[in-house]
Amino acid sequence: MTGFFAGYRTFFRQFREQFETTGAIAPSSRFLAKSMTRFVAARDSASGPVRILEIGPGTGPVTDSIVRLLRPGDVFDLVELNGEFVRILQQRFQTESAWATVAVQSRIVQMPVQQFVADAPYDFVISGLPLNNFPAALVREITEAYFRLLTPGGVLSYFEYMYVRPLRRLLTFGAERRRIVEIDEILAGHCRRCRIGRDSILLNLPPAWVQHLRRVS
Ligand SMILES: C[S@@+](CC[C@H](N)C(=O)[O-])C[C@H]1O[C@@H](n2cnc3c(N)ncnc32)[C@H](O)[C@@H]1O
Repeated sequence: MTGFFAGYRTFFRQFREQFETTGAIAPSSRFLAKSMTRFVAARDSASGPVRILEIGPGTGPVTDSIVRLLRPGDVFDLVELNGEFVRILQQRFQTESAWATVAVQSRIVQMPVQQFVADAPYDFVISGLPLNNFPAALVREITEAYFRLLTPGGVLSYFEYMYVRPLRRLLTFGAERRRIVEIDEILAGHCRRCRIGRDSILLNLPPAWVQHLRRVS
């Protein structure tokens, strides 16, 4: 079983070795995971099976919330870039009982999400990608992929660390500042059109906002 501290150690090593794509010093807290999955938890109990996509699961703190909400017939796909994290996730599906129960309806795909092509759209897309670390063009491409992967009426939930962009706007210059401003505009545009909720999660390292957006058409 992936121990709590072993998971943290691996995450921190990936943070040092692959800073741009890992984007955090520690896995998300259970409070953040609960917020990220609250629309899955609130789904109508009379509705049928759903399709859920998690993007950037890392060592699996949000995955752990999702697996506990899965019902028979649901489909759960995970897209993760980092092979070390994929190995940990595979191990958790084999060894942890709540995960093993839903292993047959879960699939891990190792690739960048911007290249991922789904068999069918998802009702819920839950993303932990560190968008603030990426070039603006990649943020545009990834956020377009989020909506392409969602079914109309489906919900996208993603988190971002609090005040990162406002602080970087103040403290950086030139090309870096332009990158941050552009990312801000891309994300603000999506939020203006589609946002249905925002949660502030202080009990996370660092504190984060969870944004919830609904694909309108
Ligand atoms: C900030 S960590 C979040 C990990 C986990 N969801 C959590 O909340 O602790 C970002 C994760 O996204 C993954 N990632 C980064 N870029 C990606 C991409 N283009 N496609 C898929 N996964 C990516 C990283 O490998 C890492 O696991």
